Amino acid sequence: MPPQTSTPRYTVPGLSTKDGGRMIDVLRMRLHALNDLALTLKHIHWNVTGPHFIAVHEMLDPQTLAVRDMADGTAERISALGGVPHGTAGVLVSERTWEDYSVGRADAIAHLGALDLVYTGIIEDHRKAAAKAASLDPVTEDLLIEHLRSLEQLQWFVRAHLENSAGVLATTDARSEKQAAAAAGTSRTIPAKQTASPRRTAKKSAVTKRGK
Ligand SMILES: [Fe+2]
Repeated sequence: MPPQTSTPRYTVPGLSTKDGGRMIDVLRMRLHALNDLALTLKHIHWNVTGPHFIAVHEMLDPQTLAVRDMADGTAERISALGGVPHGTAGVLVSERTWEDYSVGRADAIAHLGALDLVYTGIIEDHRKAAAKAASLDPVTEDLLIEHLRSLEQLQWFVRAHLENSAGVLATTDARSEKQAAAAAGTSRTIPAKQTASPRRTAKKSAVTKRGK
């Protein structure tokens, strides 16, 4: 489990320092999830192949910018609450509760299948975080709801490539990124390079994994 943040020395006016600490705890994992998503979007941008290359390659850069902006807002909210936002790769990897993105070079639509599951995990956890904030800090809740509006739109851009004319998503039954890539894609995928991690076996796999 990620470490608990200690109660800050100060927080925003109108909120107790104890509740400020609770909000910092919620936001630190959302920051990790957003930073990880921004890295994953660039990884996909660099590794898409096939006839849909240019459309998907170019679609992902504005998505990366939007997600980086969400991470920036999250980190600055942590600071305003009296906490310390951790933005380094080492802290992200040590505290996250999910696996690295698992697809390397692959057909563009296969990547979008896997990315659909990534967005699903982040959006589900963002909704849980917004629900926790609702009773403690409406300003943090508002920030997370603003993120959700954008994240759900970005996922729709991805899903529009995976939906058939009957309105069925190719990834409906997929339970892992590799399953989703196989269901959506038309050609062979190469797994992403995995780095050894002593915590890897304890981490969750597949769908609902982008932070708690
Ligand atoms: Fe680029």
